[in-house]
This record gives sequence, C-alpha cells and structure tokens, in this order.
Amino acid sequence: MDVYKERNHFFVTKTHSVIKKFSLSPVTAVAHSNIAMIKYWGKRSVEYNLPAVGSISLTLDALHTRTTLQFSDTLKEDQLILNDQDASATALKRLSDFLDTAAGNSDRPKAKVISENNFPTGAGLASSASGFAALALAAGKAMGQSLSDEALSRLARMGSGSAARSIYGGFSEMQLGTKDDGSEDFAVPLQDENYWDVRLLVAVTSDEKKELGSTEGMLRTAKTAPYYEHWVSSHPNDLREMRQAIADKDFEKTGELTEHSCFKMHGLAMAAKPPILYWNAATTETIHRVWILRKNGIPAYVTIDAGPQVKILCLPESVEAVKSALSEIDGVRSVIEAKPGPGAYIMETVNETII
Ligand code: PMV
Repeated sequence: MDVYKERNHFFVTKTHSVIKKFSLSPVTAVAHSNIAMIKYWGKRSVEYNLPAVGSISLTLDALHTRTTLQFSDTLKEDQLILNDQDASATALKRLSDFLDTAAGNSDRPKAKVISENNFPTGAGLASSASGFAALALAAGKAMGQSLSDEALSRLARMGSGSAARSIYGGFSEMQLGTKDDGSEDFAVPLQDENYWDVRLLVAVTSDEKKELGSTEGMLRTAKTAPYYEHWVSSHPNDLREMRQAIADKDFEKTGELTEHSCFKMHGLAMAAKPPILYWNAATTETIHRVWILRKNGIPAYVTIDAGPQVKILCLPESVEAVKSALSEIDGVRSVIEAKPGPGAYIMETVNETII
C-alpha cells in the first residue's frame, strides 16, 4: 500500500491498485430520524447487519442529527464528540468500524467526527438511524465517492438497520434481500415528505439510555422467543398491506397496521427468555389514554420502539386533543410534535475546520 499527500488537501491511498482520495476538508451532513410503522426486529446476519424482515417507516422533521467529519493526516486515532462530550469507547469503536467499512477496509486516514442530536440519544428515538445516515453521507462525500441513494442506504445499514431508511424523506421501505452479501438490502423511497400531512407526537417518558441495545434484544428474541418464526413468515403480508394503505392514504388502516406491528414486535420480545420489556409505567398509561381517545372518535394510534417513548400517529386536526390528553399523564415529561421530514443532505455552506 502506498500513501501520499497531494497539495495538503487530500490523502490518497492505493490498495490492490484501487486509489482512494480522502478529502481533508470538513464535511457536514444532516439526517432525520425515522419511526418504523412496520417494524424491523431480527437479523439474518450480524456481520453484514442484514435484517430478517423488511420494514416501512416515516422520516420525521423534528428529530435530526448533524454530523461533521474531517479526515486528517496528523490524527493518530479517530475521535468522536457526541452531543458536546467525548463519546464512550463503545461508540468510538462503532464509528471506527463503520469508517473502515466505508473505506472498503483499506488503509484510511483517521477522522474527527462531531455529532449532535436535537433529542435524547439512545432512548428509543432512533438516534442511531439519523446518526448513521448522516455519517454515511458525510463519509461517502469525504471519501470522494459519489454514491447513489441505494449505495448510501446500504452503507448506512451497516451502522444500523433503521439508518438505511433515513436516507429518504417521507415514507420509505427497507427491502429484504436474498443474498448473503447484503447487496440487495437497502431502502427505497415510497412517498416523499409532501405526500401526506400526518403527524407523529412523541410522548417522552424517560431521557435515560436503554439498558438493552436493539442488536442484543433482536438476537435474544430470535434465539428464545417461541413465535419468532411466525413473526418472520407473516411479515411480508404486513408490508404489503401497509404499502397499500399508504398508497390509498387510508389513515385508519395505516394506523391499525402501525399499532399491530408495534404490539406484534413487543409481544414477541416479551416472550423472549429472559423477557425483554422496554416500557415503563407511563408507556402503558399513554397507550391506554390513546385508546380512550380513539373510543371517543379521535383517530390516533401508538407505536413504540426499543425504548419507553410512545409515538402517536394522528392527523393535524387531532394534534391538540392528543397533546391535551398527554399533558394529563404524570410520567410524560415532554411531547415532541413531528411531521414527515426530508431525506439526508450535505450542508454545503458549512466548512469550518474542526481539527
Ligand atoms: O436499527 P436498529 O438497530 O436501531 O433497530 C431498530 C429497531 C426498531 O427501532 C425497534 C424497529 C425499526 O424498524 O426501527
């Protein structure tokens, strides 16, 4: 392998005749979080981070990660500042592994990465989705690659399965590939953020990091939950129905399918040994309140990820009624209101050096 510098702006490596040109200028990318309406839970390969089932999600305008990445020919190790603090060793290792993958596991310069979420990290608000989507975009650009959305989605997937969907705005679908190398496992757009004015209210019931990460949770579920095979085999039908409901803009059907997929996933996880329960008392209280609203004629539906927050899907005209019901629940600390949000993008105007 040869390494040489070119006018101080690039770091160029050559491995097996492949020349890679790393820009030493900072690159900033923004990606929005997404919430799965048809959930992904289970992996068919941990090495390539391949999902066992497809998924359909909504990207949200209110929750985002902004990431600046700069490669350097002087840094000895990668550095990660997450929400103004030095990241943990685990988070740093995840970053380094991801950058190695993005560089095709060839030699690469070390990078400094500064990443900020405008919402609690690691608490079931899909910070890994927006985080790895922003990182994939920034890394791809800094590596001088002009990647298609498909390729970016595949790369983001290597960091976190849900991140594959945050490349796109609005509604998107993570496809389930058939190959072992993951070449077919990427997300595709279904409808952009202007297609359907729905709302998603996030009832934040805890700011604490979850105790059990999604990978561990998925592996335990696949190994020990008695209904796991049925979860996998019945999934294509859930996806098919959701695609149709979104295409028809059938809100009731979309809500019912969203809620069903949520309880199907959590019921499955609860049936693992030892059981996996991401909820707290306020989570359950919120579910019941939303069901009461529905009995009273307000179309609102819950969904929950690997954490205790409850996300409520509703229409713009129901937002005030849902907010008012949530404000009466003791354990609900705050409510974030989101609309369909945009896909990931590079901020061309930000180019201050961070090293
Ligand atoms: O992509 P991960 O590893 O953060 O897993 C996401 C799992 C769920 O959020 C529970 C479901 C989903 O499809 O986003």
